[in-house]
Amino acid sequence: MCGIVGYIGARQAAPILLDGLKKLEYRGYDSAGVAVLNEGAITVKKTKGRLKNLSDMIDGGHKIPGTIGIGHTRWATHGEPSDINSHPHTSESGKIAVVHNGIIENYMKIKEFLTAKGYTFVSETDTEVIAHLADYYYNGNLLETVVKIINKLEGSYALGLISSDHPDQMIAVRKDSPLIIGLGEAENFIASDIPAILKYTRSVYLIEDNEIALLTPNGVTLYNTDLDEISKEVFSVDWDIAAAEKGGYEHFMFKEIMEEPQSVLNTIGPVLRDGLLKLDKVPGRISIVACGSAYHVGIVGKYVIEALTRIPVEVDIASEYRYRNPIITEDTLVVVISQSGETADTIAALREAKKQGAKIFGIVNVVGSSIARESDEVLYTLAGPEIAVATTKAYSTQLTAVYLLALSLKKAMGELSAEEEKYYAEELLRLPDLISAMIEQKDKIQYYASRYFNAKSVFFIGRGLDYALSLEGSLKLKEISYIHSEAYGAGELKHGTISLIEEGTLVIAVATQEKLFEKIVSNIREVKARGAVVLAIATEGCELIEECADGVLYIPKTDPLFTSSPAVTLLQLFAYYVASLKGCDIDKPRNLAKSVTVE
Ligand code: F6R
Repeated sequence: MCGIVGYIGARQAAPILLDGLKKLEYRGYDSAGVAVLNEGAITVKKTKGRLKNLSDMIDGGHKIPGTIGIGHTRWATHGEPSDINSHPHTSESGKIAVVHNGIIENYMKIKEFLTAKGYTFVSETDTEVIAHLADYYYNGNLLETVVKIINKLEGSYALGLISSDHPDQMIAVRKDSPLIIGLGEAENFIASDIPAILKYTRSVYLIEDNEIALLTPNGVTLYNTDLDEISKEVFSVDWDIAAAEKGGYEHFMFKEIMEEPQSVLNTIGPVLRDGLLKLDKVPGRISIVACGSAYHVGIVGKYVIEALTRIPVEVDIASEYRYRNPIITEDTLVVVISQSGETADTIAALREAKKQGAKIFGIVNVVGSSIARESDEVLYTLAGPEIAVATTKAYSTQLTAVYLLALSLKKAMGELSAEEEKYYAEELLRLPDLISAMIEQKDKIQYYASRYFNAKSVFFIGRGLDYALSLEGSLKLKEISYIHSEAYGAGELKHGTISLIEEGTLVIAVATQEKLFEKIVSNIREVKARGAVVLAIATEGCELIEECADGVLYIPKTDPLFTSSPAVTLLQLFAYYVASLKGCDIDKPRNLAKSVTVE
C-alpha cells in the first residue's frame, strides 16, 4: 500500500526520497510525490502513475534542492489516482506539508468543521484534512500542533510532516499503520518500511502507536502524546540490502521461490534443535485467523493440528472474524498468521480476540511488526524480506511453522513419543531438499504452463490437505496471471459448479493424499467426461493417475501431512510461468498491495 520516506540531514533530500520510494514500489501504488524545504519555502512535486514520471519531472531530484523533505507513494482509497489527490498535501498557506498512510475515518466531519472555518479543499482525499488541521492548530510549536491534530483523528495513520517555519525539524507519528525512524550520522530518516532506508542505516526505532518522533539532522527525540520524552531501544536490522534486491533474477517472485529451501531450513532448524516449542498450556480449542494466503496456511493448519492432536481448530478470514462475534472460551488459543505483521484486518481480529481474553500465538515474518508485538508468543518465520506482492517463500515458511506448532502441541500433551519426534523431525528436515527437487523440475513445470497459459478459466480441485493447497494454487494463479480461477473440494464440484466445465476447461487436480487417491481419481473422471483437460499433481509412485489425467507433475514422497510443502512450490512456479508467458507485471499485479494496512 502507500509508502512514506522522509529525510533530514546535510545531503540533498529529493534523490534520497526518490531512491527510498523506489524501494517501496513493490508495496503497490498509483501516484507519487515529494515535498522539499529550501530557503524558507516548501516545493511540492507530485504526479499520477509510476515513480519514473515523478523522477523525470524533477530530474532525478536535482530540480528541487533542499536537505529536508518527505516523499510518498499513494495507493488510492479516498479519491481516484490523480495529480491533485497524490501526496504530499499542504496547508493553504503552503507552510506545512504532510504525507499520510492509512485512512482517516472521521475526515468528513473534520472537513465540514474546517470548511465552516473558511478552509478550501482541493483534493478528494481524507489526508488533506490533516494539512488544514495543522494550519488551524499551528501555534509556532510543531510538536504541540501534531498532538492537537492526532487528538482529532479517528482511524489509522502514519504521518510525516514538515514546516517552512522549522527548517531543522520533521515530525512523525503513527497509529495502526507502520512507521520506522532510521538513525544516521548527522542525518535521520522516516519510512513506512525498512528497505526504503536500509542503504543508509541499519539502526532504527520501531515506532509504536501514539509515539511521536521529532527529528533534527543531529538527533531524534521520542515523545508520548503528553509530550513527555520516552526512551526506546535501537533495533538493529540484521538482513542485508541484497535480500531486498533482485540479484540478477528477472522477478522478485522467482528469486523468492528459489530462496524457499533456505527460508524453510532457517525456520525449522532452530526450533527442532531446541526440541520444539515450549507451550505453557495445552489449549482446548484453537482459532486461526489470517487473510489471503496466510488464511490458506490456516486451513492446512486445521487439517494438520486436528490430525495430530485432535484439538478442534476453526479457521477464519480475519475481516469476517471480528464482526461475527466469535466464541472465545478461556482455553481458546488464537493463532494469528501474517507475513507483514501489519495487515489491518488481522490486527483488528487479534485485538478483538485479546479483548475477549484469548491468548495470542503469532506466526509472523517481520520482526517487530504490530502483530509480533501484540502477540503473547511469537514464532518467527525466517523467510527474510519478501518483496513480490504475491507471497511465496513466506507462505512456505508459514506452512512449516504450523507443522511445528502442531508437533509442539502434541508433545505438550504428552502424546509425542521420542520415536515419533525423531521421525517427524527427520521428515521436516527433508523438506528443503524436497522443495529443491521441485525447483529442479522447473522446465517441466514451464512446459505445462506453456501448454495452458491461454486458459480462460481454471478450476483447482483437491481433497483434504489437497483442497487447502488448491485454494492457494488458485489464488496464486489468478492474482498474477489474471486468469479466472476457483478452487473446490473435489467432491463439492458436482454440487453446482460442474456445470461450468465444458470442452477444454483446464482442471488442475491436486492428488497427493494417498488415502483419498481413489476418490480424487473418480472426480477427475467426472470432469474428464465433461470435456475438461486435467493436469494432475501427484506423489511419485502414484503413476496410475496417468491413465486419467492429460498431464502429471510429481512431488517426491513425504509424510502425507507435509505434502503441501513441495506441492505449493510447484503451483507457485506454474502460476509464475503462466503469468510470465502472458507478459503480466508479475511482482506488482494490478490493484494489489503488498501489505494491506487499511480495513
Ligand atoms: C497473496 C498474498 C496475500 C497475503 C494477505 C495477508 O499472494 O500475499 O493474500 O497473504 O494479504 O498478508 P499478511 O500475511 O502480510 O498478513
